Amino acid sequence: MVEPVGTDVTIYEVGPRDGLQNEKGLVPVEAKAEFISRLLGAGLPIVEATSFVHPTWVPQLADAAELMNLLGEDGRHLPVLVPNERGLDRALELGLEHIAIFGSATETFAQRNLNRSLDEQFAMFEPTVVRAREAGMDVRAYVSMCWGDPWESAVPVDQVVSVGKRLYDLGASQLSLGDTIGVGTAGAVGTLLDAFNEAGLADDVLAVHFHDTYGQALANAYAAYQHGVRTFDASAGGLGGCPYAESATGNLATEDLVWMFRGLGVETGVDLGQLVETSLWMAEVLGKPSVSRVVQALG
Ligand code: HMG
Ligand code: MG
Repeated sequence: MVEPVGTDVTIYEVGPRDGLQNEKGLVPVEAKAEFISRLLGAGLPIVEATSFVHPTWVPQLADAAELMNLLGEDGRHLPVLVPNERGLDRALELGLEHIAIFGSATETFAQRNLNRSLDEQFAMFEPTVVRAREAGMDVRAYVSMCWGDPWESAVPVDQVVSVGKRLYDLGASQLSLGDTIGVGTAGAVGTLLDAFNEAGLADDVLAVHFHDTYGQALANAYAAYQHGVRTFDASAGGLGGCPYAESATGNLATEDLVWMFRGLGVETGVDLGQLVETSLWMAEVLGKPSVSRVVQALG
């Protein structure tokens, strides 16, 4: 796990990956590299750069290798999404050090996002993680649809915990709990975190990944913070979504999260002014305004 020094919480920035995977237009690779450099320059300790998935499944990120080559040494320590051994080979060829696998807590999303059944996904991830660890890589695991699924509605807590723990136990250093379609609410956040704690996964190995479809992402992040979680996924300007999850909108905006933590006196290490500038610049690249209320207020 990448451990930033001197901050109270870790913001795991997913804008270049979760944000840009969902954009209709293709963003030039040079603009992606600049986006990442600016985010790092604003003090974000971890920036998930891109995905080594099948290029026809996510054409927006088909330039993953080109991007990582452009970033050079600066990109080597940045995490990238990898679903399988083919993706791992591509990451290894570039000398990358951190990968993230991404499993589903539900059958339908496993089929739609990974072309695998719930059980089959583990057969895909297991050798990927084993080989990554043998190569000295750090592995993060995501579990999606933790608080609801568009096809299966409510997802039983036991099922989420069972899938999440299995993914973590493959050899991950951290498990990120994804509210892929943004339906979770603060009470349910506490319930799921309690259940993971009872299953042996303490808050310090958990991260939370909230999408903001119902405007609950910031409240959910606060609930997770109060519970004891210290790693928060967020996306600059509130970019994001999942092309394979109906009704997934943007992630929790990094600016909104930083603003909240600033008010709480919680050190994030992020320069809010520089971050807002970056999101305003990216909004111009994308040709649409940022959805972040803090970007709108300060911009
Ligand atoms: P598949 O079609 O079942 O793949 O897709 P396959 O294993 O049958 O292989 C078919 C062909 O694809 C083979 O080529 C492979 O080499 C090639 P052929 O032999 O026919 O010439 N191939 C690849 N090529 C390049 N890179 C690869 C790769 N893998 C296979 N990695 C697969 C299975 C998993 C690849 C596909 O379903 C896929 O790419 N899915 C990714 C979908 C995705 O990226 N979704 C968005 C990210 S998840 C998310 O956003 C949620 C998250 O934010 C958390 C949350 O919000 O909850 C993380
Ligand atoms: Mg996501």
